[in-house]
Order: sequence, then structure tokens, then C-alpha cells
Amino acid sequence: MADKPLLEVKDLVIHYETDDGVVKALNGVNIQIGVGETLGLVGETGAGKTTLAKGIMGLIPHPPGKILSGEVQFEGQDLLALGKEGMMKIRGRDISMIFQDPMTSLNPVLTVGEQILEVIEIHNPGLSKQESRKWAENMLERVGIPAERFGEYPHQFSGGMKQRVVIAIALACNPKLLIADEPTTALDVTIQAQVLEMIY
Ligand SMILES: Nc1ncnc2c1ncn2[C@@H]1O[C@H](COP(=O)(O)OP(=O)(O)OP(=O)(O)O)[C@@H](O)[C@H]1O
Ligand SMILES: [Mg+2]
Repeated sequence: MADKPLLEVKDLVIHYETDDGVVKALNGVNIQIGVGETLGLVGETGAGKTTLAKGIMGLIPHPPGKILSGEVQFEGQDLLALGKEGMMKIRGRDISMIFQDPMTSLNPVLTVGEQILEVIEIHNPGLSKQESRKWAENMLERVGIPAERFGEYPHQFSGGMKQRVVIAIALACNPKLLIADEPTTALDVTIQAQVLEMIY
């Protein structure tokens, strides 16, 4: 028998109930991703790609979003049954997501270093301040940003650099699954290639 997939989405149905009516965004989606596998999702605007990503991450806004049925199994556990607290432990540690727009992913009032530190500290409470700091600086370097820029704010970085910071945050805890929702759409072509290289 084959190993259980890392992620298995079964028959997922998600609707948005708005004043103008019901938007049937997902009508029974099935996907499987194994360890080490990459799955690309293609679809026209409004097809439901972001809705699927958010559904997996437990980030569907409710209201207007509503998960009507289906399962999201991650390493054999049903994420839809986990609840807020349980999902917070999974997000950032086991599953990370990179959103399309780095502007909305970063907090404008925290330095980029603090934002990387935050996810490291939440998921590794046993580390000393110094160790966490070193780790965060290391993540910056890994995405091609000098560690000296740890204390700078998002507005001091270009769009491509901001997306690198977002990637550093997403990869900081070595997630088993990385969900990237059009991570390079907001960037110019040369930067797109560099960013993709960092992810794969
Ligand atoms: N918060 C929301 N409230 C109401 N409808 C929504 C909401 N979010 C998404 N939708 C609708 O759900 C459908 C799927 O949207 P979704 O954003 O998942 O598509 P997408 O494939 O990511 O599109 P794009 O390529 O433009 O990012 C669309 O019809 C969209 O208008
Ligand atoms: Mg989308």
C-alpha cells in the first residue's frame, strides 16, 4: 500500500454567502500532495485558487465564507476539525503560505527582522533570545538580504525585497508544506525568476 499523502483534500465545498447571492467558489475539490512533491494549480481569475489555499490554511473569512463539506487531511489529521488554537500551531510551522501581495503580508510598524523573529519564537519557545536572533538573521541572508538590514522597516525595501522577507518568514520554521499563491505576480520578471529559485 502506498504511503499516506502529506496533504489530501477531499470533496471540499466552499461558498461565499453575500448580499448579492451565493458564490459557489469550490464545488468538490480533490487534491493530493505527497512528501517532496510539487503541485501547480492553474485557473482563470475567480476559479477558486486562493479560496482553496485559504481553506487548507484555515483562513476562510466567515462570514461570508462557509465550508459546507469536505476534508482537509494533513499527515492524517483533519485540519477542518482542529479549531483556531490547533490551526495556529500548524500554521507557520508545518504549513506556510506566501500571498500574492507582500504589502499586505508584512506589518508596516514592525521591522522585517522582528517579523521573522516572531514566527521563530512562537514555534520554538525553548530557544534563547540570542539563538532566535541568529536564526532570523540567517534566514535574511538565505533570501539574499544582508543581516545588517534586520532593523529596517518594510517601506525601506523594494517590492522584490519585501517578497523575499515574506519568503524568509514562510520558510523560517522549515514547513513541510509551502503554499504559494501567485507569489511573483506583483514583481517584475527578473525578480520573479530569483524569487522562484528561492522557493524550489
Ligand atoms: N471574501 C469574499 N466574499 C465574496 N466572494 C468571494 C470572496 N473571496 C472570493 N470570493 C469569490 O469566490 C470566487 C473564487 O475566488 P478566488 O479568489 O478563490 O479565485 P482565484 O482563482 O484565486 O482568482 P484570482 O486568479 O483572481 O486570484 C470568486 O467568484 C470570488 O469573487
Ligand atoms: Mg487568487
